[in-house]
Amino acid sequence: MFAIGLLIIGGYIVNYIEIPPHAPALMESTRAIGYSLEAAVADIIDNSIAANASEIDVCFSPYELSPYVSILDNGHGIDPDRIDEAMRYGSQSSLDVCGENDLGRFGLGLKIASLSQCRCLTVISKSRGILSASRWDLDEVNRIGKWALIQLDKEDIEQIPQYKTELDKST
Ligand SMILES: Nc1ncnc2c1ncn2[C@@H]1O[C@H](COP(=O)(O)OP(=O)(O)O)[C@@H](O)[C@H]1O
Ligand SMILES: [Mg+2]
Repeated sequence: MFAIGLLIIGGYIVNYIEIPPHAPALMESTRAIGYSLEAAVADIIDNSIAANASEIDVCFSPYELSPYVSILDNGHGIDPDRIDEAMRYGSQSSLDVCGENDLGRFGLGLKIASLSQCRCLTVISKSRGILSASRWDLDEVNRIGKWALIQLDKEDIEQIPQYKTELDKST
């Protein structure tokens, strides 16, 4: 069930098993660590600043059928081949590279700040003209018990509120 391998520790060969966290337990517990709405939004804006954004729009739409908060920035975005890594709990890039504007460190903020306030996080990025998007849906993760990061295609992205007004711009 778990991946197995061998390690050399102090000259001895040791067996190990790889034991990743249970997704529903980790996602539900990290969303309950006590973020206020303000701190959650600030953590996401921190990412926008780290991405050299000069404009950040925060929009609350509480009266929709599915109420949402959107945070849009004009920073450098996320490469299509990096977006899934950015969505990973404990995403790798933060420990490797940390720019001087960057308060992020542990590769968690985007996920746990967002999901502290809602049960569905969608990240959409346009980088080098290519749109990409993925989504954590806590109810789906609970239902199937896996780290199931949902991949959105162009049609899915077009259904997202603000797609036409903001995301379909050429840059
Ligand atoms: N607004 C954004 N613009 C560009 N990249 C972003 C943005 N938000 C998040 N990212 C990318 O996603 C990664 C994960 O973000 P996060 O979970 O907040 O962890 P951290 O900030 O500690 O790296 C960041 O390292 C960055 O590469
Ligand atoms: Mg961050």
